[in-house]
Amino acid sequence: MYKYTDYVSHLQRIADVNCATALLHWDLEVYMPKGGAAFRSQQISTLAGMAHEMFTSEKTQKILHSLLDGNNLSGPERRNVELTLWDYQREVKLDKDFVERQATARSEAFNKWMEAREANDYAVFVPQLQTLIDLARQEADMRRYEAEPYDALLDLYERGLRAAFLDKLFGESRDKIIDLVSELNLTSLVETPNTLKQQYPKDAQWDFGIELLKALGYDFNTGRQDISPHPFTIAFSPQDVRVTTRVKEDDFLTMTWSCMHEAGHALYEQGLPSEQYGLPLGTSASLGIHESQSRLWENHVGRSRSFVKVWFPELQERFPENLGDVTPDAFYRDINRIQPNLIRTEADELHYHLHVIIRYEIERACINGNVSAGELKDLWNAKYKEYLGLDVPDDNRGILQDVHWAHGSFGYFPTYSLGSFYAAQFYHAASNRINGLEEDLEQGNYTRLLDWLRQNIHCHGRELLPGDLCRAVTGEILNIDYFIDYARDKYSTLYARD
Ligand code: CO
Repeated sequence: MYKYTDYVSHLQRIADVNCATALLHWDLEVYMPKGGAAFRSQQISTLAGMAHEMFTSEKTQKILHSLLDGNNLSGPERRNVELTLWDYQREVKLDKDFVERQATARSEAFNKWMEAREANDYAVFVPQLQTLIDLARQEADMRRYEAEPYDALLDLYERGLRAAFLDKLFGESRDKIIDLVSELNLTSLVETPNTLKQQYPKDAQWDFGIELLKALGYDFNTGRQDISPHPFTIAFSPQDVRVTTRVKEDDFLTMTWSCMHEAGHALYEQGLPSEQYGLPLGTSASLGIHESQSRLWENHVGRSRSFVKVWFPELQERFPENLGDVTPDAFYRDINRIQPNLIRTEADELHYHLHVIIRYEIERACINGNVSAGELKDLWNAKYKEYLGLDVPDDNRGILQDVHWAHGSFGYFPTYSLGSFYAAQFYHAASNRINGLEEDLEQGNYTRLLDWLRQNIHCHGRELLPGDLCRAVTGEILNIDYFIDYARDKYSTLYARD
C-alpha cells in the first residue's frame, strides 16, 4: 500500500528536521551570543524530539513492512529500507521510561563530572558513574548480545564490531606499539627546539589553511570554514558541508593539521551521493570509517615527505621569520614529533592508540561487570604506568580528562583507533592501485587519491557494514600490520638509535 517514493519523502522530512537541528548546533558553536544558550538548548531538544517521534511513529513501521513484504524494490532500494528497519528497531528497543531515566542520569553525571573536574577529585564522580555503568549494562541486556554485554554497545557505534575481534586487534596493537616505541631513541627530541612552537601570525595561518583546503579538493561552493573552540565538521547535505578550526599563534601544528583532519571528514561528506539525501545510502558507513578519512589526509598525506616537498617552500615564503632558516628535514621531524604524554587529545599519532586501548580495556571490564567505578582510578593509573611509562599526577590529567563516560558513551573510544588503522590499510591499498600516486602527491596533485576514495568508499554510503567495506576496498579484514609498518617505516628512521 506504500510506494518507495512514500518512504523517501517520509525519511527526507525527518532528515530536514535533523538538518535544522544540526544548523542550530553549528550556530551554537560558531556564532551564537552567550545569552542564547538557554533557549537554544530548548529549541534543539524540541526539534530532536520531533525527529524522534516522526521516526519511531507507526507510519515508519508500516511503510517499512509494506515495502519489505512487497516485491517491487530494486537492490539499492531494498538495502535502504533494510537499513532503515535496523535503525528503527534500534530506536524502539528501549522503552520510554528507561530512556528518560538514562537521560536524567546522564545530565546528573555530566554535572558531577564538571564538579569533580573543579575539585580535581575522581571520588566526587564515582556514584554517578556507577549509575551510568549500571544503566548501560541494563541497556545491553535490552539490546541483546551473544558473547558479552559490551558487544551490544559497540554495535551502536560500529555496526558488526565485536569485542572478541577488537580484543585481538587491540591486544596486538598495544604490544606492537610498545615494542616499536622501545626501539626508538626519543631522548634527542628534548634538546632540539621545536620550530612549530613559535609565534605564527593568526591571519597568515588562516590564509594558508584556506589554500590547503582548496588544494586537497574541499569545495568551497558546497562548504565554508569558520572558527570554533573545538574543530568539527558538520553536514546538512552533500551540498553544504562545513568545517571549523581554531588558531593558536604559538603552535603552528594546531590549526594546519586540524584543517587537514576536518578536510578528510568533509571530503567524505561532500562525496556522499546527493540523490540519496536523508537515506542510509546517503550517509557515512560508520564512525570508524569517517575517522579513517580524516586520519588518512591528516597523517598519510599531511605528515609525509611529499607534503614537506610541496608545501615547505611556500611556508618559508609565508612565514620567513619562523621558517626562513629551518631545513625541510627539521620541519619534517617537527611535524612528526612523538613523546608519551598524559592527555589523549594532545597525543601523537603513535602513542594515541595506547590512550584509546586503556579506555577500551577499562570500559569493557566495567560493562561486563568485572570492575566497579570505585576501582577504575587505580586501574587507569596502573595502565598509564605500564603502557606509557607515566605516573598520573592528578585526576584531571588522569581519569577525569574525557567527557565520554560522563555522557554515558561506552564503546565509542575504539572507533578513534579503528579510524587510524583503517586509514593505514586504505592508504596502502590506494598506493598499490593508483599508479604513480607518490609522484602525484609530490607535485601537490591530490585529485587521483580523492577520486579513488570517492569511488571506493564515499559513493557507497552505508551500503556495506564497516568490516565488509574494508574487505571490499582492501581485500582483507582490518589488519594492524599496515599501521605498524607505516609507523615503523617513518619513526625508525626519524628516531634511530645510534
Ligand atoms: Co575526527
